[in-house]
Amino acid sequence: MIDKKDFELQQANSSPSGDGGVVILAIESSCDETSASVCIDGKILSNVIANQTIHEQYGGVVPELASRAHMQNIVPVVDAAIKKANEKIQQLTTHYPPLTIHDIDAIAFTQAPGLIGSLLVGAQFAKSLSLALDKPLIAVHHMQAHVLANLISDPKPTFPFLCLTVSGGHTQIVVAHSPLQLEIIGETIDDAAGEAFDKTAKMLNLPYPGGPLIDRNAQKGDPKKFKFAEPQIQGLNFSFSGLKTSVLYFLRDAKLKDENFIEKNIDDLCASVQYTIIKILMKKLKKATEQTGINQVCIAGGVSANSGLRNALKEFGEKYNWQTFIPPFEYCTDNAAMIAITGFYKYLAKDFADLSISATARAEW
Ligand code: KG4
Ligand code: ZN
Repeated sequence: MIDKKDFELQQANSSPSGDGGVVILAIESSCDETSASVCIDGKILSNVIANQTIHEQYGGVVPELASRAHMQNIVPVVDAAIKKANEKIQQLTTHYPPLTIHDIDAIAFTQAPGLIGSLLVGAQFAKSLSLALDKPLIAVHHMQAHVLANLISDPKPTFPFLCLTVSGGHTQIVVAHSPLQLEIIGETIDDAAGEAFDKTAKMLNLPYPGGPLIDRNAQKGDPKKFKFAEPQIQGLNFSFSGLKTSVLYFLRDAKLKDENFIEKNIDDLCASVQYTIIKILMKKLKKATEQTGINQVCIAGGVSANSGLRNALKEFGEKYNWQTFIPPFEYCTDNAAMIAITGFYKYLAKDFADLSISATARAEW
């Protein structure tokens, strides 16, 4: 049996590259995940992600190692994305001839922001493919793509919607007026929420990336056992550096009294840190709904995989009458499907990049 969405896909295209179907190949390589995705008319057919476990032993991403791993991964990952897309197409209908690289209508890639060496691998690969296939190139901003991850699966928010984007490098509240009209109305003035998770996890002797481990331990702990500093920042901006310092000094004092304090209290410590981070995030998100009058509220970015944040969004939604949206897990952390969906909207707007474009580590919207 095929569901309605798949049925539409079957109806829309007599062949993958036929009149009805715009085929986008997307590449994401901004940090330590090499990912490729194929979508037809904004419907994701594959999303292949190669994680780089090498960084765990160093307690953080080592840029040089990340670039080398992208170099090794990029060809097999793109190949796998096309193969998986084909498998999906064959599940939907037997009428399609196999999708080949020549059926691609445009190549989208993450142009910024991120680690420059990592970005360059994806950018150079995308540019080479664009040149070789003579197909348009689409440059995508990684943070905009995180927001548009909310447009991949049903139910989707309607415009305008608010999005709290929380990742390892960014924390932003964005108003999405349309797929390509995104406005930042609040952001962190120091650390990102993901950094707050990862840096406190390191203080708790947890390996990198600490966010998912804090999440797991927090589920067994008491969120109100320990109290950490909350910032008093005006407007819709965030700050996490005070929390980090507060955890550091608290642990220093506690360890003087009991050197095994962390091990004995790990679940409660994780629960209390997570509770504080979520409280800081949700306070500003609520303020944003009040200021804008928008009640369609999404979350995005790696930290939106956090179970406490997901529950908090649902609770606030019920309490304050918001309609809430959370992307499926695989579209929360870094992935090429979000680059593909953004690439699709840019394709419709004919927003193509020149081959002279290069990756940049930092970029304004
Ligand atoms: O969006 P992302 O995959 O990469 C960046 O663009 O930064 O986000 C990575 C961040 C890391 O800081 C990681 O610890 C955090 O997302 N993260 C989580 C969870 N899963 C990933 N933080 C808290 N709870 C999680 N379950
Ligand atoms: Zn990201």
